[in-house]
Amino acid sequence: MNLFEQQQQEFVRRHIGPDAQETREMLETIGVASLDTLIEQTVPAAIRAQEPLQTGNPVSEYQYLTELKKVAALNKVYKTYMGQGYYGTIVPSVILRTVFENPGWYTQYTPYQAEIAQGRLESLLNFQTMVADLTGLPIANASLLDEGTAAAEAMAMLLNHKNKNTDHITSPKFFVDENIFAQTKDILITRAIPIGVELVFGDYKTAVLDDTYFGAIVQYPNRNGSIEDYRNFVNAAHAVNAMVIMATDLLALTLLTAPGELGADVAIGSAQRLGVPMGFGGPHAAFFATKDEFKRNIPGRIIGVSIDAQGNRCLRMALQTREQHIRREKATSNICTAQALLSNMSAMYAVYHGADGLKNIAKRVSLLTKTLSDELAAMGFHNENQFYFDTISIKTEAIEAVRTQALAAEVNFFYTPTNILISLDETTSQNDVLDILHIFAKAIHKDTAEASFSNDTLLTNIPTALTRTSSFLTHPVFNSHRSESQMLRYIKSLENKDLSLNTSMISLGSCTMKLNAATELIPVSWPEFSNIHPFAPADQWKGYQQILTELENWLSNVTGFTATSLQPNSGAQGEYTGLLTIRAYHEHRNEKHRNIILIPISAHGTNPASAVMAGFKVVVTKCDDAGNIDMADMQAQVEKHKDNLAGLMITYPSTHGVFEETIKDICALIHDNGGLVYMDGANMNAQVGLTSPGLIGADVCHLNLHKTFAIPHGGGGPGMGPIGVNDKLKPFLPGHVIKGVANTAATATHAVSAAPYGSASILLISYAYIKMLGADGLKKSTEYAILNANYMKARLQNDYKILYTGKNGTCAHEFIVDLRPFKTSAGIEAEDVAKRLMDYNFHAPTLSFPVAGTIMIEPTESEDKAELDRFCDALLSIRKEIAAIENGAADKADNVLKHAPHTQFVVMANDWSRPYSREQAAFPLPYVKENKFWPSISRVNNTYGDRNLICTCEPVSAYAETATA
Ligand SMILES: Cc1ncc(COP(=O)(O)O)c(C=O)c1O
Repeated sequence: MNLFEQQQQEFVRRHIGPDAQETREMLETIGVASLDTLIEQTVPAAIRAQEPLQTGNPVSEYQYLTELKKVAALNKVYKTYMGQGYYGTIVPSVILRTVFENPGWYTQYTPYQAEIAQGRLESLLNFQTMVADLTGLPIANASLLDEGTAAAEAMAMLLNHKNKNTDHITSPKFFVDENIFAQTKDILITRAIPIGVELVFGDYKTAVLDDTYFGAIVQYPNRNGSIEDYRNFVNAAHAVNAMVIMATDLLALTLLTAPGELGADVAIGSAQRLGVPMGFGGPHAAFFATKDEFKRNIPGRIIGVSIDAQGNRCLRMALQTREQHIRREKATSNICTAQALLSNMSAMYAVYHGADGLKNIAKRVSLLTKTLSDELAAMGFHNENQFYFDTISIKTEAIEAVRTQALAAEVNFFYTPTNILISLDETTSQNDVLDILHIFAKAIHKDTAEASFSNDTLLTNIPTALTRTSSFLTHPVFNSHRSESQMLRYIKSLENKDLSLNTSMISLGSCTMKLNAATELIPVSWPEFSNIHPFAPADQWKGYQQILTELENWLSNVTGFTATSLQPNSGAQGEYTGLLTIRAYHEHRNEKHRNIILIPISAHGTNPASAVMAGFKVVVTKCDDAGNIDMADMQAQVEKHKDNLAGLMITYPSTHGVFEETIKDICALIHDNGGLVYMDGANMNAQVGLTSPGLIGADVCHLNLHKTFAIPHGGGGPGMGPIGVNDKLKPFLPGHVIKGVANTAATATHAVSAAPYGSASILLISYAYIKMLGADGLKKSTEYAILNANYMKARLQNDYKILYTGKNGTCAHEFIVDLRPFKTSAGIEAEDVAKRLMDYNFHAPTLSFPVAGTIMIEPTESEDKAELDRFCDALLSIRKEIAAIENGAADKADNVLKHAPHTQFVVMANDWSRPYSREQAAFPLPYVKENKFWPSISRVNNTYGDRNLICTCEPVSAYAETATA
């Protein structure tokens, strides 16, 4: 390699951990001659790709950023007043720099291990408190994917609640007010059809509901910006036992009576305008708040208060956190990855501004909107909204003239066939209002426009009957961090409690916590990408267009398919979308009766949940003792259901970390019986460049870009779950209400996300990843993912039982360590090992999935040998601690594992009566001393929290009670 080629390849060696010398040593430990031999022994020859990937040559990080600047310049950042769920916002710099752009926050994993996640749990609790306060409803979750899907989740929750005691749906109707956002309507249609909901569209003012309705949705303020009083409607709905969802806007709610006070049963919406850039559609946190009676049915994750082993207050994910794993095909939602990082940003925005700050922003926006409305009226333009917060709706014949002038001034409004909608936001200044007035003046050939801005104008645009009187954000956390120093230290104090990738490897099997390189992430904050409205005219996002097209082509090539949809906002949403294409395919062929989906028992819980959401019946198939699909059972099930077989969902390599040799036969069996094959691509990190779902014989797969393609997990989201499909399914990819984007074919299914390209701005991360690694680098990453896993397996296999390997004794990119024997030999559970790893500075691997009582380790290619060795040393040392219990040297109940993790408070307390030393507790191996990470709480008590559910910041009095108790 010459010097210049070397420069081009620079990122490959930054991304992949082991160097040449380490690689040799690792291969020797495994006992294979070369990396090629290891791959040959691991990936069945029948499915090996013969062609190299067509994703181009690698580029250096510097070259990438330089070239991307030119592509970014193709996007035109106009002053945008389009609204419709997406608004300009000012991200406080301290939040931008120390949360959004900080690996200490964005590389965190979902807070399953509460003892090393108290920081983000606290911030998410702040988010829930903010949402609960503003909506006036007691329980809120820690985010959903976007406003449209939050509405669909709410609809599904109410459907199940109303019809829960019946075998069939007795109240199938759901009323949809015509003035909710068009994208929300579209997503409701998508979700309603498969689950048997009958949508009835109309005007809430004239709607008559009866007992065939289970619910209704209205929007407050509505999509035209009008503030409507829904009290009578809510009462009428409740009179027939129908429940009401209000889609709403958190900033508007600082001035408006809360939905809960109006009687709403659920409030949903997007928290985007609270400090998260538009990003051409996302990612943003959707919110979901509801009444206490629905607390066990809320979709997504809820953070709740509990106590730890010392009786101290702590936080953890509550109740249905593990819903899809427990309830599987009985689950009513498939939400897994959500939008944690963006919830944290919005929560921090509320902490930064406090109630008064938010109210001031809202009043300023509303005052400017009222001024604009008044001045336009003086010019002869009539705002149809009598009451409004930030949006006016001008009915005019001069739409085209205004549009021409607006575009010339680089300004976007939202146009309907009859009206111009203008939504102001936090970024709008008095000069901006003047500029808008000038545009209208020019459209009617007037030279000048004027405005008089009064500071103390009464907001007569907000109806007195709906003016907010209740307080919100009264908790001290929203009233204590006003200066930047305070804010900085608050954010840092939370970050310090959390273990993320900037501390040590996070070897979560199935989750692929690889490097999220800084160069991949930097452009996400560039205004050319972050300040584009998702419904902006196409000629303003040519840069995005170029990137999205290239990315679609690359992902199609990587998956071996012909088309890719970038719309789904998470892996589970990808599953749902892929299954909808399968459903549409069968319907199109007049085979609607094909409604059975086979799913192996080993599948991730989201698989059956998604299948049910897509209207399928789930039949579970068995696995054999080696973790492979039980072929005899599979054949029997196919035979039994062949007339109604819609398809199979399968994860490959399997969730057991093995490349099953029979995979092609399985695909052929399904196809021969009229079904299609859905491949869960969560394990693509073992496939890229070596094989592909298309090659193996699948028809559709999703990719978790937040696994294989380097998007960070953000503490539980964002993520992206694009799907690749073959020719058969391409016509049925999702479309969008904005014409000309996403799938434009007449056969397109309705949208699955609010924005046409989902959370478009983070697609840049995967784009950068592919561009900088190039075809060879991608393949090499896969090979090293397999090497690293096999190296760790080799180091651990004499001391631990490794469950499942391929026929040559190798594993794929992950492997399962069986901890069940220790329960009998030493009374030690998998959880004890997971918690003890924290004392060794490590996050636990995936716990008890897919097999209870085990841990699944996935090191990824990004970890070097030294880090892998530290982790193996930790596990081997823990094995010795278990042995001490087994041979009686340590007590069965009072030992270093059962008491793990050890906090500073415990270790440094004056009292120390444990039968092991403080040093053994906190510094069990020499490397720990160099960089100790302290869990901030002792072991969390889950059941206590579920019994005493508290999901918002407790009042200060609660702390006082604890202190005096
Ligand atoms: C095998 C598998 N399938 C599907 C999913 C769901 O993906 P997401 O969390 O992005 O919804 C996961 C998530 O961990 C997974 O491991």
